[in-house]
Amino acid sequence: MDGNGRWATRRHLPRVAGHKRGVDALRACVRDCAMRGVGVLTVFAFSSENWNRPGDEVSGLMELLAGALAREVPQLKADGVRLHFIGDRNGLSEKVRSGLEQGEAATAHNRGLILNVCFNYGGRWDIAQAAARLASQGHAITPQTLDRAMALAHVPDPDLVIRTGGEQRLSNFLLWQSAYSELVFSQALWPDFDAAALDSAIAEFAGRERRFGKTPDQLAAAPAGQKAA
Ligand code: IPE
Ligand code: MG
Repeated sequence: MDGNGRWATRRHLPRVAGHKRGVDALRACVRDCAMRGVGVLTVFAFSSENWNRPGDEVSGLMELLAGALAREVPQLKADGVRLHFIGDRNGLSEKVRSGLEQGEAATAHNRGLILNVCFNYGGRWDIAQAAARLASQGHAITPQTLDRAMALAHVPDPDLVIRTGGEQRLSNFLLWQSAYSELVFSQALWPDFDAAALDSAIAEFAGRERRFGKTPDQLAAAPAGQKAA
């Protein structure tokens, strides 16, 4: 969800105002994804590297998360959304941590859209914590065991990764899980990423040929439905 700061700066507003609008955009995006039958939405809200930002922006983001949880969880619960927080909770304040836990507990029985919020998350952190846990338990480290030990083991790998804000890089998001994801880079700043922008990203995704290492001829020969095997 990139581009909140630029959205605000262009309007001569403090960066935190952009993050506030980012929460509005996320609320709408969750609704739009649910309406389109998306099963899992994973968003990058705060990276392991975002601690390097000015102190007032970091504390603003923490307050925004705590406030958003308090305000949004009842509606998410009513809408059947199941909330998961992905990331290192050790670095977070007690207030933020208990907010995350309450949000997860309140929606734990929901069976609609799965919303993973990556917070104090980094793709390298996830790979390293999974490997360290396997090693400490004396397990072999293989692609399969790592997969199951990682923080997103409860969902399939993403089909589509969208980065907003015009940059063309992953910035430590889903490094392991995006091995075969389609990448779409949207020029829209995150607060402007609306239903039309989502539809345009989905349309771009739908036009891609996903080969998973196979040749185009092999795909053409495979019966329908087996193409992503
Ligand atoms: C949001 O966008 C990402 C977060 C860390 C919350 P940015 O804050 O990176 O916005 P830009 O890139 O400065 O515009
Ligand atoms: Mg940015």
